Amino acid sequence: MRILVVGSGGREHAICWKLAQSRHAQKIYCAPGNSGTMEFAENVDIKDDDVDGLADFAEKEKIDLTFVGPEGPLVAGIVDEFQSRGLRIFGPSMEAAMLEGSKAFAKEVMGTSHVPTARYKIITNREEAEAAIKEFDRAAVKADGLAAGKGVIICKTRKEMEEAVKALLNSTFTSGPVRKIVIEELLEGEEASILAFCDGKEAKLMVSSQDHKRIFDGDKGDNTGGMGAYAPAPVTAGLDKKIHDSVFSPVLKEMEKRGSPYIGVLYAGLMVKDGSFNVLEFNARFGDPEAQPVLSLLDSDLVDATLACIEGKLNDTDIKWKPGAACSVVISSKGYPGKYETGMRVTGLDEAKKLPNLKVFHAGARLEGNNVVTNGGRVFGVTGTGRSIKEAIENAYRGVSLIKFEGMHYRKDIGKAALGTR
Ligand SMILES: Nc1ncnc2c1ncn2[C@@H]1O[C@H](COP(=O)(O)OP(=O)(O)OP(=O)(O)O)[C@@H](O)[C@H]1O
Ligand SMILES: [Mg+2]
Repeated sequence: MRILVVGSGGREHAICWKLAQSRHAQKIYCAPGNSGTMEFAENVDIKDDDVDGLADFAEKEKIDLTFVGPEGPLVAGIVDEFQSRGLRIFGPSMEAAMLEGSKAFAKEVMGTSHVPTARYKIITNREEAEAAIKEFDRAAVKADGLAAGKGVIICKTRKEMEEAVKALLNSTFTSGPVRKIVIEELLEGEEASILAFCDGKEAKLMVSSQDHKRIFDGDKGDNTGGMGAYAPAPVTAGLDKKIHDSVFSPVLKEMEKRGSPYIGVLYAGLMVKDGSFNVLEFNARFGDPEAQPVLSLLDSDLVDATLACIEGKLNDTDIKWKPGAACSVVISSKGYPGKYETGMRVTGLDEAKKLPNLKVFHAGARLEGNNVVTNGGRVFGVTGTGRSIKEAIENAYRGVSLIKFEGMHYRKDIGKAALGTR
């Protein structure tokens, strides 16, 4: 099989790594890729939001399967375009990807299908906001539309809510100016990410995971795209069936009823407390960094799992997971998620490669001559595996300790929640 992976982050390096282990994979391309994906794929200089350019390439190179990593092209309709040209592609249609593309849409689908989620109001202007804010003491104020993790403001007072609404209504994010806002009750608990392979009717849950959104230890500082993740997440132990039956099944049924069956990876961001949970959000793709530890524990062939989703055969497909645990520590550039410089030379990667139970997934990194240099905010996802979460964490940090570049930053407490020491 000739496979094309779309994207250039740590998630896409992990996807290329996993696809390269498939008995089906003969040739893999990655567009645009990074210095890590080159290990398994031929990088192609096409941007991940150039839907027509990617489809032209897939036609010209007779690609048998395209795997889309990031949300941007999915929400822009890449799956619809490829399918209209008879090209096989893994990911939700533009309409189905609205579960991530619009937080207001996601809340409406959850409301209709009785999925547990925070009480909310949708507003489109300051007047509506004034009325809605009176109904909340504390809230998460969320811009409708893709915002690359920068569209949510946590508010502890009504004053903060007013300011958040004002700020967001005047903002423009990846998907354009903000026209709608979701104000939802602030929930307490511990977060977890539950991803599932979906074939439009059936959802097969993956091993659970937990991301770390804030830039500093102890969940301090700004929200980022994610500073590390581990799997499995003990906080959801024993809840898989309940999550499957009360979140994924009803949402898939509702999407099918609306004529846009959900095929692809569906990611539910949960807030868990005392054995019960609420859905904070849906993402329409593998999380990044969650993809790194989750794919490290996938024992089945990723192409088989992908084809089972596309062909609606998940019910007859057994997806296996390795025992043990995995932990991915993100190394970022100085200043991220704010302004940062790139082009810093990286050392220690060859030494890290020699370590057992470790894989360094490249994200914002590129090759300059023979050297790997930084090329983004999040640069690497250093991923350790082990028989226990403790071992996986130790293996990850052993790798981190070998990698060096000027101004590098990483959190020291990734996975500590699972050890009960955070
Ligand atoms: N109702 C809520 N109660 C408490 N915290 C919340 C709530 N909604 C969101 N948050 C916090 O804000 C973070 C971001 O919110 P959310 O996941 O909805 O947005 P996002 O920008 O789409 O995130 P991502 O980049 O992970 O896709 C959550 O991970 C959580 O920490
Ligand atoms: Mg999201």
